[in-house]
Amino acid sequence: YTDAVQEYFDGLIGADQRIEPRDAMPEGYRKTLIRQIAQHAHSEIIGMQPEGNWITRAPSLRRKAILMAKVQDEAGHGLYLYSAAETLGVDREELLDKLHSGQQKYSSIFNYPTLTWADAGAIGWLVDGAAIMNQVPLCRCSYGPYARAMIRVCKEESFHQRQGFEILWTLSNGTEAQRAMAQDAANRWWWPSLMMFGPPDTGEAAAPGGHTEQNMAWGIKRFTNDDLRQKFIDMTVPQAQKLGLTLPDPDLRWNEERGHWDFGAIDWEEFWRVLKGDGPCNEERIAHRRRAHEDGAWVREAANAFAAKQVAKQAV
Ligand code: ACO
Repeated sequence: YTDAVQEYFDGLIGADQRIEPRDAMPEGYRKTLIRQIAQHAHSEIIGMQPEGNWITRAPSLRRKAILMAKVQDEAGHGLYLYSAAETLGVDREELLDKLHSGQQKYSSIFNYPTLTWADAGAIGWLVDGAAIMNQVPLCRCSYGPYARAMIRVCKEESFHQRQGFEILWTLSNGTEAQRAMAQDAANRWWWPSLMMFGPPDTGEAAAPGGHTEQNMAWGIKRFTNDDLRQKFIDMTVPQAQKLGLTLPDPDLRWNEERGHWDFGAIDWEEFWRVLKGDGPCNEERIAHRRRAHEDGAWVREAANAFAAKQVAKQAV
């Protein structure tokens, strides 16, 4: 890795051009992308579980069909993202091993349980809403394969967000019990959704060794965690008002001077606890994932045997 290569890389980043798999890149850039893209891919496939839990109990055939399509989309997002990570020289088998052994993370949000049907609505509205806010800027990420994967992912996430809003819209215009169910889901998912954006950029709860500054310099991140969190709150409060739901934060109020909604303190201890494995569903999520991987071994073996046969045929 020479000075000339570094200069070429810096030139591309400086001109806001894309880095492609064929380009030489600093090891730190490659490593942070593998970490982030793998974490993102893992989140997509672990994220199938909380909603998958409601497929058999969705309240109508139409709701069931929509939810199945949505959960399949998440699997597809995982596949694009593992493919994007593979362009950086890692193998998806290795990434999955790291997920299963706890060496790589997935989003904190998927360690919370889906207790009622309204949770399927709250996940679409809040969790996918937060995901879009975080992922639209990733369409402009400096690494080409990741940025391109994000375009389709964001289009699909946008459909997911609307279907979640529509579930809650129906419930909040329904019976008293349905309204209460919608409110309870909003109460439980609001704070964990705000944590999805990651630790604050500054102050006591900021991550030691956080990646934001370097990743912004590399054009991977376009906004800080706190900026995206604020944008999400500003977008979501009027939607909650439309739904007639209260967000569980007594400090939420419009700040005319800032032109933003002020909000209360986030429980960062809870966030770090969940990341360390001590959330309500961490163990269950990983155990289920490992089981699904083992149960799917025959599919991988069959696909490999088929691929080997094709190669042998071509050689003849
Ligand atoms: N859940 C789990 N871990 C998190 C979360 C979270 N919500 N937020 C931050 N972290 C971790 C980071 O991975 C990092 O840990 P590490 O150094 O051990 O890898 C640490 O906390 C410090 O955070 P940051 O310095 O802010 O890390 P980073 O620059 O990677 O920013 C962010 C975090 C914003 C989540 C970024 O990685 C990102 O944009 N990822 C892509 C989007 C994504 O993964 N979405 C998944 C959920 S959306 C969905 O699947 C529907």
